[in-house]
Amino acid sequence: QSGIANDSAWHRPPFDRHRRLRTTPALRALVRETHVGLDDLIMPVFIDETIDGVSPIASMPGINRFGLDAVVDEVGRIADLGIRSIIVFGIPKYKDAVGTGAWIPDGIVQRGIRAIKAAYPDMVVIADDCMCEYTSTGHCGIVERQEVLNDESLEYIAHIAVSQAEAGADIIAPSNAMDGYVLAIRSALDDAGFVSTPIMSYAVKYASSFYGPFRDAADGAPQFGDRAGYQMDPANRREALREAASDEREGADFLMVKPAMAFLDVLRDIREASDLPLVAYNVSGEYAMIKAAAANGWIDEPRIVRETLTSIKRAGADLIITYFAKDVARHIRDHE
Ligand code: PBG
Ligand code: ZN
Repeated sequence: QSGIANDSAWHRPPFDRHRRLRTTPALRALVRETHVGLDDLIMPVFIDETIDGVSPIASMPGINRFGLDAVVDEVGRIADLGIRSIIVFGIPKYKDAVGTGAWIPDGIVQRGIRAIKAAYPDMVVIADDCMCEYTSTGHCGIVERQEVLNDESLEYIAHIAVSQAEAGADIIAPSNAMDGYVLAIRSALDDAGFVSTPIMSYAVKYASSFYGPFRDAADGAPQFGDRAGYQMDPANRREALREAASDEREGADFLMVKPAMAFLDVLRDIREASDLPLVAYNVSGEYAMIKAAAANGWIDEPRIVRETLTSIKRAGADLIITYFAKDVARHIRDHE
């Protein structure tokens, strides 16, 4: 009684030795499933009509608002780090009921986009298409009797998109969470001749407390009430599939889930339900929490940031909008 067939080790394999593939950095790199690279990153940029130069944002250490005189240099620094895409937000001088500053041809974002594209034509400039920074109510649409009106707001969100495309925006990213906005924007862009301008829809946008620092940064906090009447309830998962499906039907070219870290299950759901490129927005509150803990010496910031962004990609995101983009690009330059 001998030979392989009767060898008990053959019949009864040893327990699994998972650690075999973890013995050296090179081996671990060979079996790594998820990578975060420069092409995955989109850096947010705030353009402020009320300032010259650079103004720091207190709740977002390392992130600044830039005057029109300073924003092109900042985009140059972003480009030098190898980042190929930015998303721009505007802080206007004047606010009114209909968010005029968001759609006039010489609005701050339109002027900023023109200057950026003139200096860096290869930078992919994504324009956030919303009204909350521009309305006196701080809401993302037209308000009547304390209510944000859906269909009346569509006209404006489409008008903003066309003005941004005219200024040279490469992608329009509507974030005001009105029903039908992708269809309204697609029709308006097509009618204006911008048939090749893609729409990156904030399709799955939760009414989240993680936007707090952004609302300071962009000066877009609602003056009454909240956004729960138009943004999604964080308790809902199936509803995210409906939001994504309707935006895809209406012609969205990218879908977004926002925020990211507390919604990784939703990212995975959308990844499996749609074949469109999927974007995660690693929002201001997620950034602020990590920066604050790191400033106290409580966490290892670069490692936490890598782990966070890797997890967002592992959950299903193709692209990540993140205030950490420059930090990560520097890390890649210095360590990889
Ligand atoms: C505008 C908009 C917001 C964010 C992106 N676009 C604020 C909001 O919806 O209240 C949040 C981004 C962040 O927190 O980093 N609608
Ligand atoms: Zn808004």
